[in-house]
Order: sequence, then C-alpha cells, then structure tokens
Amino acid sequence: MKTMLNIALPKGRLGEKVYKIFEDAGFECPSIKENNRKLIFENPEKCVRYFWVKPSDVSIYVERGAADIGIAGKDILLEYEPDVYELADLDIGKCRMAVAAKKDFRDDTSKTLRVATKFSNITKKYYASLGRKIDIIHLNGSIEIAPILDLSDVIVDIVETGTTLKENNLEVFETVVPISARLIANKSSFKFKNELIEKIREAIERNKILREENK
Ligand code: PRP
Repeated sequence: MKTMLNIALPKGRLGEKVYKIFEDAGFECPSIKENNRKLIFENPEKCVRYFWVKPSDVSIYVERGAADIGIAGKDILLEYEPDVYELADLDIGKCRMAVAAKKDFRDDTSKTLRVATKFSNITKKYYASLGRKIDIIHLNGSIEIAPILDLSDVIVDIVETGTTLKENNLEVFETVVPISARLIANKSSFKFKNELIEKIREAIERNKILREENK
C-alpha cells in the first residue's frame, strides 16, 4: 500500500488559492472541487489526502502529526509557536500585523498602554522589545471596536486592505511584522515522508519563481 500524505488546508478566504498552489505543483485532487460539504478528499494516484480545517487550527494538526504538511499564516506561527518546520513562504495571504488607534491618539509613555488584541503573545513580545509597559486585553474578534468604546488605547491586529480600520475611523500607527501564508511540516513526517514533501516543496518554489517572472 502506498503511503498517503495528509495535507491540512485552511478553509475560507485563502482556501481556493492555497489548493490551486498544490494543483499547479502537480498534486491535484479533482474531487475537492465538487460542491459539497465534505471535508476530506483524496487522490490515491498522487498519494495525497487533503482536508479543510479552520485556518488557526492548521498548525495544531501538523504539530501533532494528524497532518504531515499544511498551510498556515505567519501570524498563527508567531502567536502559537508550534513545534513544526517552516518550509516555504507561499507569497499569498499577504498582510501585516499592525498597531492601530483612533486618529487623534497620542501615546503618553508615562502611562501603561492598554492594548486589545487576539494576538497576545505577539503583542507582549513586541512591546517587551520596545521596553513599553502594557495592559493586554485579550479579545476574540471585532477588535476594532475596543478603542472606540475606550476599552483600549490601541489594538494589535491584522491589516490587509485597511478598509476595516478606515470604516471604523482608526489608522495604523506602527507595523509589527509582515505576514504571509507558509508551508509547514510535521517534524517526524519531514523525516519519514521526506521525498514526497520535498517534491511538493520544490514544485511550489519553482512555480513561485515562474509567477514572479511573469508578473
Ligand atoms: C481580519 C482582521 C481585520 C480584517 C482586516 O479579520 O481582524 O478585521 O481582517 O482586513 P482589511 O484591512 O482588508 O479590512 P478576518 O476577516 O481575518 O476575520 P477575524 O475577525 O476572524 O479575524
């Protein structure tokens, strides 16, 4: 029996683009395009089994070996620091982690800064590197509301187009770190299924260069 490679794909916004990267790399799985609510799809010919999971869960599947490889945002990798290998930058899902606040916000460094975020670990590390004392307010979504209701002074969140900030009268003050989607691998799978994983990684890297050249 052939060994299958289990691949965790992020369901949602980036999903289609991510699958296309694997398809272009020669690891297609036509049944994935059927319009149904199935979550697992396989193409035994190519030895691949894809499954859709919540984007922030991809690294959990990969770290524990339920998936051999997967695609995760750099934001999730920095926030949760999973014990996985980061094999490639896919150059999609590009955005940045940024500090934003109301337009009239002025930082009073004599006071503890109240920061609302979903990314507490990234935020703590960022302000520790600046030597700035903060009070973290951990939220799970709609972070943009926090400064408007004076729950926080600033927020640390993902900014892609900037529309969400603009529509809530907030603006970016500092960029914390640029973000994009990464190919990650389980450490032991990388050893035992190395040939197949490397084949996929190489094809993805090659296509990335071709895409760059055709821009
Ligand atoms: C992110 C982020 C912002 C928005 C920024 O949320 O939290 O709300 O995208 O994008 P923009 O700059 O293009 O407006 P996402 O849609 O990923 O969902 P979430 O609320 O679950 O984080």
